[in-house]
Amino acid sequence: MDLFCSIDTPDSARERVAELTRLIDKYNHAYYMEDTSLVSDFEFDALLRELMEMESKYPDLALPTSPTRRVGGEVNKTFRQVTHRFPMLSLGNTYSIEELEEFEARTRKLLDGVPFTYSCELKYDGVAVGLTYRHGELVQAVTRGNGTVGDDITSNARTIPTIPLRLRGNSPDDFEVRGEVVYPFEAFEAMNRQREADGDEPFANPRNAASGSLKLQNSAECAKRKLQFCPYFVMLPDGAERIGGLDTQVSMLGSLADMGFKVLPYTKECRAIDDIRFYIDFWDKERWNLPFGIDGVVVKVNQTTLWDRLGMTAKSPRWAIAYKFKAEQVSTPLEEVTYQVGRTGVVTPVANMRPVWLGGTTVRRATLNNADFMEKLDLRVGDWLQVEKGGEIIPKIVGVDLSQRQPDARPIAFTQLCPVCGTSLVRAEGEAGYYCPNQDGCQPQILGRLEHFVGRKAMDIETLGSERIRMLYEAGLVRTVADFYTLRREQLVGLGAQPQGEGEGGQATIQDKGAENILAAVEASKAVPFERVLYALGIRYVGEVGAKKLARHFKNIDALMAADIETLAMVEDVGDVTARTVYDYFQTPVHRDTVERLRAAGLRMEVEEHRTGSQLEGLTIVVSGVFQNFSRDALKQSIEQHGGKVGSSVSGKTDYLLAGDNMGPEKRRKAEKLGVKLLTEEDYIKMIS
Ligand code: IVH
Repeated sequence: MDLFCSIDTPDSARERVAELTRLIDKYNHAYYMEDTSLVSDFEFDALLRELMEMESKYPDLALPTSPTRRVGGEVNKTFRQVTHRFPMLSLGNTYSIEELEEFEARTRKLLDGVPFTYSCELKYDGVAVGLTYRHGELVQAVTRGNGTVGDDITSNARTIPTIPLRLRGNSPDDFEVRGEVVYPFEAFEAMNRQREADGDEPFANPRNAASGSLKLQNSAECAKRKLQFCPYFVMLPDGAERIGGLDTQVSMLGSLADMGFKVLPYTKECRAIDDIRFYIDFWDKERWNLPFGIDGVVVKVNQTTLWDRLGMTAKSPRWAIAYKFKAEQVSTPLEEVTYQVGRTGVVTPVANMRPVWLGGTTVRRATLNNADFMEKLDLRVGDWLQVEKGGEIIPKIVGVDLSQRQPDARPIAFTQLCPVCGTSLVRAEGEAGYYCPNQDGCQPQILGRLEHFVGRKAMDIETLGSERIRMLYEAGLVRTVADFYTLRREQLVGLGAQPQGEGEGGQATIQDKGAENILAAVEASKAVPFERVLYALGIRYVGEVGAKKLARHFKNIDALMAADIETLAMVEDVGDVTARTVYDYFQTPVHRDTVERLRAAGLRMEVEEHRTGSQLEGLTIVVSGVFQNFSRDALKQSIEQHGGKVGSSVSGKTDYLLAGDNMGPEKRRKAEKLGVKLLTEEDYIKMIS
């Protein structure tokens, strides 16, 4: 009998849970793996809800492999670092067919007459992940990381429908499935549109988005991301019993399909270089018709039994090579350069081009980045632009097709006036672009700052989207971010109502409930930590990370506002330009006034020290070198959280020198001279645990 079997759980419940699990697993498998629906959404949801209710009533029946885990909900503040049981290697890369031919000839020579074939498969453009299964159950999912150590992302991986929680049929007892988590184009674009609507920075490409999604702290958020897992590989521990079907790469993929993975039907066994070339040419053109991105093709020796014999070079196996596609390029005439003004006043030139078909979409516009970029291109009226699309979904201008340039073509000068408010633009020394200095009178800057302030990573006032903010601005209720905190109910109710005869408005009129929600969210934002308040201010060059560093260094707004440029530039990762910008920001009276109004409204203006322990109470530790499990910043934070003090240089007051790799010899010598004890990263972890 099951040791954990609770005596309060009736058999009938146990049976019903098993039945619900079986049905839901079956419907999920049909839907995600075979693209068929066996039940309506309504019926499916009802079954899932029933299972959730049963599991909450009888917690001993809630298994980690339950389909209810797909919904997520587990929250990870940090991701545990895990050392890979088998290092996650990478492949040798090439962009040239000649090098691929050399690989083929070399392999044939090394195998010296032994018959073999190649498996040609797609090179998925996502995030490499290793999944450990024990006794058929998913127990761990780890990202590649640096190949030796990765992040434990198990709770997020469980939400990906194409990652089986429990395997079907015959599988090894303890093994790892490797593959790539990709973000399908359609879901990616929908998510990015939503992010833009919410005032969040869109992801640059599906790969970054997949990586960001796997690192979401709340797995319920990851569940919404519609990621897909593409398996390509099985790793068995030495001496493990080999199940059938693993002797060739092609049959290995077949076995993975039998175990319940979604294996795409595009892998092809090839006998000769001509077949490989054909496969590559085909997918180079066809790739944009796939639902997700690929960045090349992987060619492997199909017989896995020959892999050991071929062995490894210093970094990668000799039995496989990755052929990477070159980015697709077209040229099309420039019709007009327009300009966009961002929240920080930066003016971005945009090329409007004759629409052209490129990599599966019609391209009409692409950024010209900044004035420097335009000068480098020496852009002229009527120029043909070379546009490229690589792994990125966003097209990139890479040059001008000079063969198409008219000899008398006039140069295009960067606009001197703000396209919105007409103010003369400014170009700070050493900067690539121009900006509009009319911070408080230029609408996109004001609205942009307000939107940034309420954004999810800033004050997180979710009830205020960009439309609502525009409404508040146009009604004259909000001009600076401090005005959010003086809003009153009666000002909000009825806002957005269209005067008679003006047709439908884009946003519904704010009613009683809406006004209450806005005020409640504004009130709740007062609890947001100081570092996010600092980020929310929207100081140029101060991103999320920069704000954290400044907050941790200065501890409170008064110390930050009093700092001179040199002191600011001493903060880790704060360069001279950022230091000057921060300094200038706080020297400006309206900004100081905003800070004071925010402080008076009750926003947090100092860091709160979150103590997680006092193991390091009274100790001063100097950190030097590079570490396996922590970034330097994380380590410093950890020391403070455990009650210790971080020293900046080794002195008589130092208790320990925490030494990572590549530590400067000078520090070591000084520590030895002063008798300061050296700690390894492992020692440190032991001390705090
Ligand atoms: S096989 C020893 N097959 O490309 C490494 N890798 O450097 C065996 N990738 O990060 C990898 N699609 O994550 C293999 N069909 C495929 C792949 C693939 C994408 C990634 C992999 C790795 C990189 C190769």
